[in-house]
Formats: sequence, C-alpha cells, structure tokens
Amino acid sequence: MGKVYVFDHPLIQHKLTYIRRTDTGTKQFRELVEEVAMLMAYEATRDLPLEDTTIQTPVASTQTKILAGKKLGIVPILRAGLGMVDGILNLIPSAKVGHIGLYRDPETLQPVEYYTKLPTDLEERDLITVDPMLATGGSAVAAITVMKQRGAKNIKLMCLIAAPEGIEAVQQAHPDVDIYVAAVDECLNDHGYITPGLGDAGDRLYGTK
Ligand code: PRP
Ligand code: URA
Repeated sequence: MGKVYVFDHPLIQHKLTYIRRTDTGTKQFRELVEEVAMLMAYEATRDLPLEDTTIQTPVASTQTKILAGKKLGIVPILRAGLGMVDGILNLIPSAKVGHIGLYRDPETLQPVEYYTKLPTDLEERDLITVDPMLATGGSAVAAITVMKQRGAKNIKLMCLIAAPEGIEAVQQAHPDVDIYVAAVDECLNDHGYITPGLGDAGDRLYGTK
C-alpha cells in the first residue's frame, strides 16, 4: 500500500490557508500554488540519492555530495496541474515535463482524456505527477494508468488537497504510488467537490469563473 505524507510545515500550512480563501484573487492564488508546490517538492525529494565528488574550493580540495544523477520527470494533469510545475522546476530545473490532459465530466465525475505527451525514456525516470486536487481520485488514477502503460515504473503523486475518497482510490488502483499532500480534507460534497477545499482549482488559477 502506498504511503501518504501530509506536509505540516508551517509555511505550507500558512500559504494553503490563503489559497483556500474565497477572497484570494487569481494572481495571488497562482503565486501561492507555485510557492507551495516548490516547498512540497523540497520535502518530496528527500530520498534522492547522493554520491561523493571531489571539488576544489578557493581554500582546499574536499570531498562533498552531489545528486547521483537520477533522471526526474514532472507530469502535470492538465489544466490545474500546470500551476504547480514552475515551482518544482525552480528546484529541479533539469527535470523533463510530460503532460496528461484530463477533465472530469461534471455529470458522471469520470475523467476524460484529451491529450498525452510524455518523455520517451519514461521507464528510466523518477516521476512526480502533480495536480492540486485529489477528489474522487478518478483523474489521478487514470493519469497514473496512462503513465504505466507508457512504461513508467517509479511514480509519486503530489497534490495540495486530497479527500479521503481520492486517497483510497489511488491506493487501491496503484498501491506502489506514494501520495504527498498539504492537507487531507473532510469529504466530497454532492458535486464531487472537496469540502472545505478551495473550489475549482483550474478556474481559480486561470480566472475562468
Ligand atoms: C480537477 C482537478 C483534478 C480533478 C480532480 O480538474 O484539477 O484534475 O478535477 O477530481 P477527481 O479526483 O474527482 O478526478 P478538472 O476536471 O476540473 O479539469 P481542469 O484542471 O481542466 O479544470
Ligand atoms: N476539482 C477541483 O478543482 N476541485 C475540487 O474540489 C474537486 C475537483
């Protein structure tokens, strides 16, 4: 069963409060999502392997650590996942970015796939799938299934807010995938929205409502 990591860092929690608030406008919402994604990526990459290297400082030669060169990839689920990408790229500029386009049918709540473009060497990469919202889990489960069909072997899922239902769906469908979130909320409402949540992440990021 995949583990669930809930990041309780004060900066993440503080920024998430402002992300949730109705009176937070599009510009600030977008900036905060990017910042929280960066802070979460810092925590979610703690297990990256290091190797020794010998360097020359202006004072002496010394042995220090560098990343062992593991190839990384970020896969946002369009559209709202895009809002998390730049924050993560600030920390890991060499990561390749794949895209999976899915939207949730408002009636059936089922994910509808409309676009996929992923790095060709997917099987060699440690991948972080990103989407601000994990509600029913249908979109994340479908995105991870697409990635595995294309050869992905090592996948993490990073979301700002999850509902318990979404966590369970991902754990059932993809028990090898660890989930990283800033908050686990109470439940889904009758329209499949996370409660209390933050509303529609895509609309709030891009001002489409
Ligand atoms: C939202 C969100 C997730 C999905 C979560 O996207 O960004 O992708 O819903 O719901 P689920 O866990 O029940 O599948 P939406 O379908 O609104 O598309 P958008 O990002 O294009 O706005
Ligand atoms: N998608 C969103 O953007 N928000 C929710 O609460 C659920 C799905």
